[in-house]
Amino acid sequence: VKRTALIAGNWKMNLDHLQSIAFVQKLAWSLGDAKHDFTTVDVAVFPPFTDLRSVQTLISADKLLLTFGAQDLSEHDSGAYTGEISGAFLSQLECRYVIIGHSERRTLHGETDEVVAAKVAAALRHGLTPVICVGETADDLETHGPSAVPVAQLRAALETVTSAADIVVAYEPVWAIGSGQAATPQQAEQVAAALRAVLTETLGDDVAAKTRILYGGSVKSGNIAGFMREPNIDGALVGGASLDVAEFSSIARFE
Ligand code: G3H
Repeated sequence: VKRTALIAGNWKMNLDHLQSIAFVQKLAWSLGDAKHDFTTVDVAVFPPFTDLRSVQTLISADKLLLTFGAQDLSEHDSGAYTGEISGAFLSQLECRYVIIGHSERRTLHGETDEVVAAKVAAALRHGLTPVICVGETADDLETHGPSAVPVAQLRAALETVTSAADIVVAYEPVWAIGSGQAATPQQAEQVAAALRAVLTETLGDDVAAKTRILYGGSVKSGNIAGFMREPNIDGALVGGASLDVAEFSSIARFE
């Protein structure tokens, strides 16, 4: 199976709604100048919630081939959950994806495997593709080796997922996020292969074969090509380097 690569830019809490419009316009020009082939590499941006309406309007008005998603959602559909955002609102805004269980949510906001599983179910209920993030800390790596924690997190996240689901998995070693110290392509491939085995075991061969597994953690234009050569790595979840148009556009070309 040939999987369409996905280069995803997680802006985290950066760029307000005005900056998001300028950024997406420049990114579209840059990809256009480079004659980016969206049939082989999807490019998606993940702005803060307050930018989504602006990004949606721009992408639909200019018929841009870029896609976009949100950085989180509520496990609930509606009700007395002050400050939360429903998957229903995101799908109304034509979000295609939603990041779930990013290590910053797990660490700073106490999201457990159970919460992550409930959010994955909520995303799928609303027709959104969850980008399920898993990854081990430096301590986990030392204590349990490379794959044990990401494998356990993925199994837990898939608890309620049925075999037909459209999902993306992002392997992000916590020690590599924002540290400038990326995993090696070989390290990332070893874990990605273990994650694909979990997909086979829980969702079957067909879903496992078509599901994209991304690597994330200090990806930049200088190291993306090595990751993309690995058989089980289908793209990247990019943080810091996704905030620079030229850099993110080069990453999307694996240059
Ligand atoms: O979601 C993105 C990751 O946390 C990676 O961030 O590229 O700044 O290391 P980074």
